[in-house]
Amino acid sequence: MATIEAIDLSKRYGARNALDGLTFAADPGDVIGLLGPNGAGKTTTIRLLTTILEPTGGTFTVAGIPGDRPDRIRQRIGVLPESAGYPARQTGSEYLRYAGRLFGRGRKDARDVADRLLTEVGLGDRAGARISTYSRGMRQRLGIARALINDPAVVFLDEPTLGLDPAGQREILATIGEIRRGATVVLSTHTLTEVEQVCNRVIVLDQGRLRADGSLAEVVGTGSLSDAFLSLTEEAGHD
Ligand SMILES: Nc1ncnc2c1ncn2[C@@H]1O[C@H](COP(=O)(O)OP(=O)(O)OP(=O)(O)O)[C@@H](O)[C@H]1O
Ligand SMILES: [Mg+2]
Repeated sequence: MATIEAIDLSKRYGARNALDGLTFAADPGDVIGLLGPNGAGKTTTIRLLTTILEPTGGTFTVAGIPGDRPDRIRQRIGVLPESAGYPARQTGSEYLRYAGRLFGRGRKDARDVADRLLTEVGLGDRAGARISTYSRGMRQRLGIARALINDPAVVFLDEPTLGLDPAGQREILATIGEIRRGATVVLSTHTLTEVEQVCNRVIVLDQGRLRADGSLAEVVGTGSLSDAFLSLTEEAGHD
């Protein structure tokens, strides 16, 4: 069964189509790289599918739940938003335990899950430190742990490696590789090497429209991903 199904999904702001008729489906285990130049509609797509925004056209399901049941979808997904904020005074452990409690976990269960996830994202030794003392990369990793607190069926990560150094990027990619475990991951990024390392599928958007959807091999053909990306997004012409 498809874990994501979008049919003619659209979001219009006045005369501008932030997303213009996106149709695609994803399966369990898919790690989808969502690519496109600035303003292509990547964040809009993620906000629609995570029920932060309402579409102006089209329909979708996530985890088999129709888009008009946002309360139920939110129980089954994990999200790292484009710009996430964190409570600076809390420790990483407190933050995650609280998130677990919000999803209905008991006190002990929330603590156990928080401990496990902090270890998995490489924050085990900083779990008891305030988030205000975390580096950007540590916060990104905390955000990924937060996105996994409810054992989500679908995980959305909006530019998870933005602003990270190469070592930090590699750590996040390793974490994403481990998330899989049957979940679907949708990952937006501008780093094409990242897509080549962790994604089995690529969706390319430009000016709100779908330009390509397929396996890495299908989208890339015989050249490189960056050549494919540029030819897919330049032919539309930008203003
Ligand atoms: N609240 C809003 N009001 C008006 N226009 C918006 C709004 N949010 C997004 N847009 C427009 O929708 C289009 C798609 O934006 P979106 O944030 O989805 O792009 P993106 O692919 O995530 O870009 P980036 O790579 O810069 O993060 C852009 O033209 C943007 O200006
Ligand atoms: Mg964006």
